[in-house]
Amino acid sequence: MKIKARPFLKWAGGKTQLIPELISRFPKTIIKSKKINRYIEPFVGAGALFFYVRNNFSVKRSFLFDSNKELILAYKTIQKTPYKVITELEKLEREYLKKHEAGRAKKYYEMRASYNIQRDTVNYEKYSYRWVKRTAWMIFLNRTCFNGLFRLNSKGGFNVPQGRYKNPTICDRDNINAVSKALRDTEIFCDDFTACKKYATKGSLVYFDPPYRPLNGTSSFTAYTEDGFTDDDQKRLALLYRDLSKRKKVHLILSNSDPKNIIPTDTFFDDLYKKFTIERATAIRIINCQSTKRGAVKELIITNR
Ligand SMILES: C[S@@+](CC[C@H](N)C(=O)[O-])C[C@H]1O[C@@H](n2cnc3c(N)ncnc32)[C@H](O)[C@@H]1O
Repeated sequence: MKIKARPFLKWAGGKTQLIPELISRFPKTIIKSKKINRYIEPFVGAGALFFYVRNNFSVKRSFLFDSNKELILAYKTIQKTPYKVITELEKLEREYLKKHEAGRAKKYYEMRASYNIQRDTVNYEKYSYRWVKRTAWMIFLNRTCFNGLFRLNSKGGFNVPQGRYKNPTICDRDNINAVSKALRDTEIFCDDFTACKKYATKGSLVYFDPPYRPLNGTSSFTAYTEDGFTDDDQKRLALLYRDLSKRKKVHLILSNSDPKNIIPTDTFFDDLYKKFTIERATAIRIINCQSTKRGAVKELIITNR
């Protein structure tokens, strides 16, 4: 039985629950033929939609971008040497799971410190065995940290506290292998989203999932990278969207939080994308990160149909 690839990291803003809404807005020709010539994600994150698409459509080539260099390093390493990542991660898993509470906490904070210290000596441009270790460490921290967040502080350090899971799956060997296979025929870039411009040629399907515009003053989770994502970045993105929409047969889908959830008169995205089809879908999200309150909110889905 073929194992279906799933995101190998838990990622803030992951789009698993929005997949049916997104797929239903794919061009009819693609839904019918189940074929995509070029699939492009300029903000790939954990890639929920990318993996779904790879499992369910025949995709000729894919192009993935994200400005988070740790994430991209992990993607490239799993693409190239999944078996080495599995070996490292299984070692960590064995070591961690055999410890009791205090031992696990000690291990977690040691790993977190090593991960942050190593950052200054990693060559992010050139693959080496360090990439393998770093990828395993990143997955380990993601699986054992509080809420599976990957949050960086202003200095670029990973600063999430330990999570108390009894029996976390740290190494999902089958999935890492499936992810590596899904990443065949895929080019992966650590870059700003605008870099996708030169790849969005005729027959491309581009899915934009930028960091959320904060729903209110306290729930701002835009710090995936050291530099956040501002309203000016949202405007840069809208410019790119308009630009690409002028190209022949380039299909664009963009999702974002709907500011009207909080301020009914906030027309920020309605104004930016007024020439396009703007629809609203329901999602369940943490609506206030200070508490962990979940609730139904509207997500915007914008297409150039
Ligand atoms: C909402 S998340 C994407 C989540 C993804 N769709 C998923 O299912 O996991 C947004 C992503 O944009 C990335 N990002 C932030 N600023 C960026 C930029 N200027 N260019 C490209 N990626 C950026 C973040 O690192 C983050 O991974």
